[in-house]
Amino acid sequence: MIKKPIIYDYNYVLSEKNPGPATVKIEELESYSNKTREIHKQLMEKREIGSLPFYDLPYRKKDISLVKEVAEDVKKSMGEKLENILVVGIGGSSLGGIALTKSLLHPFHNLVPQEIRKAPRIFFAENIDADEVKGLFDVIDPEKTVVNIISKSGNTAEPMANFLLIYKFMKEKIGEDSLKNQIVATTDTQKGTLRKIADDLGLRSLPIPEGVGGRFSVLTPVGLFPAYMAGIDIDTLLEGAALMDKRCKNEDLFKNPAYLNAVIHFHLHRTRNINMAVLMPYSQALSQVSDWYRQLLAESLGKKFSLSGEIVYAGQTPIKAVGAIDQHSQIQLYREGPFDKVFTIIGVENFRNFLNIPSFFDSYDGTGYLGGHTLNELMEAERKATILALIKSQRPVIEIDLPEINPYTVGQIFYMYEVQTVFAGYLYNVNSLDQPGVEAGKQYTYGMLGRKGFEKMREEINNFPAKSKDYIL
Ligand code: PA5
Repeated sequence: MIKKPIIYDYNYVLSEKNPGPATVKIEELESYSNKTREIHKQLMEKREIGSLPFYDLPYRKKDISLVKEVAEDVKKSMGEKLENILVVGIGGSSLGGIALTKSLLHPFHNLVPQEIRKAPRIFFAENIDADEVKGLFDVIDPEKTVVNIISKSGNTAEPMANFLLIYKFMKEKIGEDSLKNQIVATTDTQKGTLRKIADDLGLRSLPIPEGVGGRFSVLTPVGLFPAYMAGIDIDTLLEGAALMDKRCKNEDLFKNPAYLNAVIHFHLHRTRNINMAVLMPYSQALSQVSDWYRQLLAESLGKKFSLSGEIVYAGQTPIKAVGAIDQHSQIQLYREGPFDKVFTIIGVENFRNFLNIPSFFDSYDGTGYLGGHTLNELMEAERKATILALIKSQRPVIEIDLPEINPYTVGQIFYMYEVQTVFAGYLYNVNSLDQPGVEAGKQYTYGMLGRKGFEKMREEINNFPAKSKDYIL
């Protein structure tokens, strides 16, 4: 495993290298140096008193040991028959685990023969889609499955509904006593329905640390337990995060990738009207990291009110793209559409595999030039070509380079984006840790389905403006 820092490169955000309407002078970024120091001081003070606990997740030895202990205990009690981990959760309780497993496991992990895989298959029940949930029941044997139900609040409708369905399905096949032994609940240590169920049934459970919200929870048992069960080296993941923590402790804007990335995004938004941020890894494995990033940015910074109560409608729209696929879908817009996007292109220096493209059909134009090159070379050429094309169109481009996709580098990415997001909250003067917009949707759902205490929400829904047939085709 290559254990090196990831590289952050902002050359092509600077007008000196990439002149145009959407790039900036270095002096513009320098003007944030003092503000950065001020915010840094406030962040470190908050960290010190424990009010930003996500910062210390790489070092929570007790939680990390507990994850391993519970996982080993489950594995031992299931023995040879353990075949599947079924993770039930949504949003922040699911996207981190999906990003981790997609980036660090074999791309077709579940299809690899057990003798080679040496870890259970892993499934995520995230959506409340009857076809998908029923589909899961067709491929999962309850006798051989461990369910990890994850919900910080312990009350969210989607995971709880899926959990009830899975509970029924498994109970009917294996009985309640065996089932209880095959469930691990990851939730708040005190509050919420899931906590009560876990305590009442005597389920194994794992804590989500106080003050760590869903989208900041990938390095808590929320992400660590599924990852460990699936065979991911969580110690190295946390070591990578700790390395990034070291880099992010620097108050110098130009030495701190998280702060600099936040400043660049914020400044482009404020001064150049760049209100979208595209994250485009040239790697299939990292595609779900973009999904995770989308939630982190959108839920944290998309806010109507500032901390002082003014209406601000803050936030850039995060966009997920994947190279090389989106060259055939999005690039036309990215190059020739409005100047409203900043691009982060992630490159990978060493893929886990190296494939020579064979020299068949040499006499044909469309295939002759490919033989003798590697697939890796083609990916890298396309990445560089996209960067060049974007620069030719005067678009701001940030590059992040990973020496390799491994737990060490992925841990750095997660940590960097979390620090960047909290720092950006200070720049926008919004609370990056709450999500009132998400809560409202949850509450209307409760009201609609008749949950006690949410009658007012039901009333509001019933008072929806009546629709006219005139406007329905
Ligand atoms: O980041 C967040 O806070 C949300 O996306 C939550 O993770 C999501 O709504 C699920 O909530 P919970 O874990 O309480 O079920």
